Amino acid sequence: MRGIILAGGTATRLFPLTATTSKQLLPIYDRQMIFYPLNVLVKAGIKNILIIISPEHSGHFLNLLGSIFDKNNIRLEFKVQKTPRGLADAFIVGEDFIGDDNVTMILGDNIFEDDFSEDIKNFKTGGKVFAVKVLDPERLGVVLFDKNMKAIKIVEKPKKWVSDYAIPGLYIYDNQVVKAAKQAKPSSRGEIEITDLNNWYLKKNKLKIGIIKGKWFDAGTVDSLLEAGQYVKEKKLYENFDPTINNAIAKFNEELKNLAKKVL
Ligand code: G1P
Repeated sequence: MRGIILAGGTATRLFPLTATTSKQLLPIYDRQMIFYPLNVLVKAGIKNILIIISPEHSGHFLNLLGSIFDKNNIRLEFKVQKTPRGLADAFIVGEDFIGDDNVTMILGDNIFEDDFSEDIKNFKTGGKVFAVKVLDPERLGVVLFDKNMKAIKIVEKPKKWVSDYAIPGLYIYDNQVVKAAKQAKPSSRGEIEITDLNNWYLKKNKLKIGIIKGKWFDAGTVDSLLEAGQYVKEKKLYENFDPTINNAIAKFNEELKNLAKKVL
């Protein structure tokens, strides 16, 4: 299993915060947002992780993550995506990195309370995504279930109400996803949609959908960014991190303090 974090884009909804750095490097309470998706992958035992970033802030990602895991067997790779072409593009940009393996893709601004380690570790074939009840389904990809909770279809940003269950930004796929992404045609917003890939698997009866119980945030607006930070603080979610990450952050803090002493 390989991991991809999608951390590109210009994040205009967060201007002026994202005029100086990437959205995924903004703080969620005591650490940068990117550590949250990173934690989902590391906790599931994934060792090879590709982070897709936009050209403007690539140096910032290297400053933070360039050497933070060097003794922990976790290999981070970075790839610059010049223009965002949709979520499904991650599997085309990441084709060489994925090789013949399965892949878990997570959006760099998604913060989950639930632990997905077992879903990722036990994954075999097809696809697995998750559904969470939301108040604003028109903003997201949503899944329509029948009365037995069997998925019927997935609709991207439905104009008319379809369902309250959204599919958040965590996607586990087998290697076929690369082929599916290459076949996908751009939507009316000019992007290749992850929803098309999910429907591709669903039609083949190969898509499993897990239900999310805990909180989920996509920290893409000033309000959700603040709300996510407050929730993390209140529930002490930073304590649930994989020790590899918490130790790496502590060590990085030490190095920064020593460096600051030398400068002073
Ligand atoms: C994207 C996907 C959507 C998904 C959402 C999760 O939306 O297209 O299906 O529910 O991420 O954050 P976008 O961020 O492009 O509006």
